[in-house]
Formats: sequence, structure tokens, C-alpha cells
Amino acid sequence: MRAAANAADVAEGRFVQGVCVKVLPSAAAAERHVAALFAEQLRRKPDSVLGLATGGTPVGVYRALVAAHRAGEADLGRARTFNLDEYAGLAPDHPQSYAAYMRQHLFDHVNLPPERTHLPDGGVADAAVACRLYDALYRHYGPADLQLLGIGLNGHIGFNEPGFAPAPGGTHVVRLDESTRQANARFFGAGETVPEYALTMSAGRIMQARSIVLLATGAAKAAIVARALEGPIGTDCPASLLQLHPDATVVLDREAAGELAPERG
Ligand code: PGA
Repeated sequence: MRAAANAADVAEGRFVQGVCVKVLPSAAAAERHVAALFAEQLRRKPDSVLGLATGGTPVGVYRALVAAHRAGEADLGRARTFNLDEYAGLAPDHPQSYAAYMRQHLFDHVNLPPERTHLPDGGVADAAVACRLYDALYRHYGPADLQLLGIGLNGHIGFNEPGFAPAPGGTHVVRLDESTRQANARFFGAGETVPEYALTMSAGRIMQARSIVLLATGAAKAAIVARALEGPIGTDCPASLLQLHPDATVVLDREAAGELAPERG
């Protein structure tokens, strides 16, 4: 496959309520564009702290970043990574854990030292303790220079579900929305249940990242993308908080951009 495109190749984004929005012709192009932003970040600052996400959307980003790494365009040897979240009760060696996902899609294929890849540990019996440990690490090494986000069908970022309560402690335990558990059931086998609880970085921690790039692809995300970018800022749509961030970019394919108001002027 093609290595990540040069991010500068892509037309400049437009601004929607303070957020830079870039619409690419296809999901693959959007994924390559986001991977190119990460490769550029690593060239600018080799010891970058990268904020990473899981789910269906980032898979193509990691594929493109691995390709860029193999092409000599992305050196992760001095980088450090922090993931947004993990399922409570799934230890890092559990095949459905986000730790396993990250090894499968990225960590096993690039030169990131394993000791500099961080996720909340879903296997610790007292999840609140795991959250505190993770948050202390993030406060020490963070914030992320560049944070990757997806967006849930309900507007969540990380596992900060609609109507979330502010969590002054940063990383914390949350109960997943039924809609999130249903959306994620596709990653679990027959007879397996999606955990009810997760450990997630708070929206406040996410907003501390120096730059944020949210990727959404596909028509199913079009309505929530429009709500997040054009609607009021509120916890009923956690992704709408991006409107408050000084350096947030939303990368979309045409389908995910399908319900945005037409460009004026
Ligand atoms: P998805 O999840 O990429 O699997 O749609 C996005 C999210 O929940 O943030």
C-alpha cells in the first residue's frame, strides 16, 4: 500500500466554530492524511508524546503509519504513547483488550519501545487504583503533543459518554452506555459480553493535549459530526468540547461530512 501522503498535499481545511475541518475524498485518504500528521509531528519532535485511540476508525491510520515507518518516514524510537481508555476487567493480554488491539495494529510493527507505550491497566482488581496510577504517569509525561480521537455514534470521546460528570481526578472509571456496548459488540465473539465498565481519560485531560485530530469516516457518523461541530457546546455531545480547543482538527471523508452545512462564501 501507499505510504502516508504528505499532509501538505491536502487542501487547507475550513474553520467551523473554531475547529479546522478537512474533508478528504475517501476514508483511505482521510486515514492516510491523519497518519501523515503523526509522521510530521514525529519529524518535528522525535520525542513526541502521542495520544492514541482504538476502535474501528483508527485501524487504517495505524496501517498507514506502519507503512510510513517501513518507508523510513516515521521514526517512533523516541516517542511515548498514551491511550485514551481500556475496558475494566480485561488484562493487557486479553485478546479484546485495547492493549492487545494496539499491539496488533501498531506497537508490534514499529520501533516504539514497549516501556514507553501506556494504557490504563484493565486487569488491576481495583480499577480506581489503576486510574490513579495512569493519571499520575500522564501528568508526569504528558500532555500529548498530538492526540488522536474517534467519535462515538453518541458523540463520546474516549469513553466520556453523553452527560458525563466532570472528573477532577482525570482518568476514572465509567459505566458504558448501552449504545456503546452494542456498537462495540462487533469486536467481541459470540458468547462474549462487552464489559460494562471502562477506564477512561477524562474530557479535561483530553482537552489538555497541545493539538487534537479527530477522525470520522462513513455516513453513520455524519449526524453526530454535524452536531459536534455546528451544535452548541455541551456534555450531551462530548465531542462538541473540541470547539473550545485552541488547536483541534477534524478529518472526515465525504460521507462523514455529509450533514455539515454547505460552505458559505
Ligand atoms: P469506532 O469508534 O471507530 O469503532 O466507530 C469510535 C469511538 O467510539 O470513539
